Amino acid sequence: MYHSGIEAPQGIWWKPVHGGEKVWVIIAFVWCMVLFAMMPFWHLKGGQNPSGIRHKVEPAAYMARTAEFIKEYKVGEDRGMPIVQPPPGSHIYLQASMWQWTPIMKLEMGKEYILHISSLDVNHGFNLFPINVNFQIVPGYDYALRVTPNEAGNYEIICNEFCGIGHHLMTGRIIVIDGDEAAAVDAGNDAGGLAQVDVAEGENR
Ligand code: CUA
Repeated sequence: MYHSGIEAPQGIWWKPVHGGEKVWVIIAFVWCMVLFAMMPFWHLKGGQNPSGIRHKVEPAAYMARTAEFIKEYKVGEDRGMPIVQPPPGSHIYLQASMWQWTPIMKLEMGKEYILHISSLDVNHGFNLFPINVNFQIVPGYDYALRVTPNEAGNYEIICNEFCGIGHHLMTGRIIVIDGDEAAAVDAGNDAGGLAQVDVAEGENR
């Protein structure tokens, strides 16, 4: 059948809706409701959206707080990046900026810490490798999470939100040590541990 742009094709919208059409509308609507209900359900039951403590923070204020944190608990350095070993139970501060994660943290296995994360400039992505942890780090907001490392080892922090030319270089580190093993090392024994690695022990207090 021939149509021109001037003569409109014959419409059918005024004809009554076919029964099958209604069924599909109902199915689609019910499915929308299911998905809608899944959001709160998965938040509460799925355990994948941690309910952190969060509040607004000026990037400059966050930077100052992180600097203070580093100064207080610094135990060494790795290629210019400070390594801090805060006491268990304390508030710890991780700072994302183009293109680094400051500082390197040394945490004890099985102990709880309150981990604060914020960005100084643009959006970054906090991805803790090899675990499936993934957060958007937004400037102006301080996200605080209660964390308890449950396995000793080296964890790489990878930025997974494109943040500019150095995005692919933006990696950081969290070192989880076995408290007992660390004590053994301090006592001068060879713990043969995996967590001590290539980190300069520095002026460990
Ligand atoms: Cu920070 Cu990509």
